[in-house]
Amino acid sequence: MQTNSEHLLKLAYEAAKNAYAPYSKFHVGACVLYSDGSTYTGCNVENSSYGLSICAERNAISSAVANGKHCGLVAIAIYSPNADLCFPCGACRQWLAEFSKDAKIIVRDKEGIKEFSIQELLPHSFSL
Ligand code: THU
Repeated sequence: MQTNSEHLLKLAYEAAKNAYAPYSKFHVGACVLYSDGSTYTGCNVENSSYGLSICAERNAISSAVANGKHCGLVAIAIYSPNADLCFPCGACRQWLAEFSKDAKIIVRDKEGIKEFSIQELLPHSFSL
């Protein structure tokens, strides 16, 4: 399906405004797109017990799953106002690989929008 990367990045940008990141002060927003055109956003949510924090990407995927989306993940856009380029962390890559073998990862740097496949970012991902 067609992905409007600019639009998805805008939704990720909006989601980043809701980040709860009093410890790192690093705000992240993510927006996932599904094959029926639906989108779900997430932001990072930190905790004083740092390890309990959750990334924006997994928050967005969790929101989608909570709304019944177990398949059809097409793309994810990720944005942080605190970085030139915000790639998903390793844990989030594994989460993406769980839900799609060919998800598109959309990020933006100073030069413009860049797109990667989950295969590029996490080759040989773990699966059962
Ligand atoms: N973070 C994300 O939300 N996504 C990533 O892919 C990398 C890191 C968050 C976690 C933490 O709240 C903050 O950024 C600093 O690591």
